[in-house]
Amino acid sequence: MTWLTGSYPKVILAPMDGYTDPPFRRFIKKVAPGATVFSEFLSARLVSQKPSLAKTMFRVYDDEKPVVIQLYGKDPAEFALAASLAEQEGAQGIDINMGCPAKKVVAHRHGSALMKEIDLAEEIIRQTKAAVSVPVTVKTRLGWEDDRNLIPFALRLQDCGLDAITIHGRTYSQKFEGEADWTSIYALKEALSIPVFGNGDVVSVAGALDKLGNLDGVMVGRGAVADPWLLKRACAAFAGDEEGARRVYGFEEKIALWKAFAELAVESSVKTEKHACQSFRKFLVRLHKDLGLSREVRAQAVRASTLAEVHAALDLFLEASLETAA
Ligand SMILES: Cc1cc2nc3c(=O)[nH]c(=O)nc-3n(C[C@H](O)[C@H](O)[C@H](O)COP(=O)(O)O)c2cc1C
Repeated sequence: MTWLTGSYPKVILAPMDGYTDPPFRRFIKKVAPGATVFSEFLSARLVSQKPSLAKTMFRVYDDEKPVVIQLYGKDPAEFALAASLAEQEGAQGIDINMGCPAKKVVAHRHGSALMKEIDLAEEIIRQTKAAVSVPVTVKTRLGWEDDRNLIPFALRLQDCGLDAITIHGRTYSQKFEGEADWTSIYALKEALSIPVFGNGDVVSVAGALDKLGNLDGVMVGRGAVADPWLLKRACAAFAGDEEGARRVYGFEEKIALWKAFAELAVESSVKTEKHACQSFRKFLVRLHKDLGLSREVRAQAVRASTLAEVHAALDLFLEASLETAA
């Protein structure tokens, strides 16, 4: 069994730096057990130079499996070593980042830069495949400035043994601008024999169903941060469960899971409770905004430095939302 076996179409939590760490992934799995989760991108170089870091960098919990660990870098041998360390820690898939457009990433020939270095990209796939027994996949974009190389690029990676590919429907040049264009992702699926997943701008169940087309699944990033329950409803929709796809989840149920998430964040943090709670504030602030609550309620959330204070802020959110709804 690998993460690529089992039912299709798949719903996947996108790798997101600063978000898809173990607590967030475990929270998502509590909310949407049918989804597959990807880690944020992790440095192949860092862990190959200091393999003792693997235990913390690649920490995988049983209740979040199957987890795909995403790596970035440019050196095939470093990818191979990092991938084998991740597999030892319990990763059930290795994804190679060939899509990040950030200046400092691309300047080091990492991320999107690999779309322009097909020989190097091939060698990375070959060496990583040889080092692990779990699937090796790539997440990339439509291309550098346009999509003309997408099919030839992906075909060459497939010939090296690539197990699946995810395409974010924007080019490197677009960064996050404009709307994701899925048309060439459907054409790519026609040209390849491996699973192809589409990514970009899925923010509703209707959008997921609409965009799926001939693909093997959808990967959701910002939409899942805004509404983790979207993944649960998308899983239901893809399984043909129309009622589940439409289900509205109550505040009590949601707040209970947000509280459990805060506990996971504190429990799995390698730093202090204060640090874990401070980094949790971004979720509180977003939730506050989404629930449309008052400034007074926000103040407590942005000051929360202990688990008890995070829980108190969430209780306040619940109270205020129920009052608003009444
Ligand atoms: C905050 C943030 C961090 C991201 N970090 C990563 C990353 O570590 N690896 C990666 O492949 N993509 C990363 N991405 C890109 C997302 O995986 C995804 O491709 C992009 O957000 C488009 O999908 P969406 O519209 O569903 O969000 C990141 C995006 C955001 C917003």
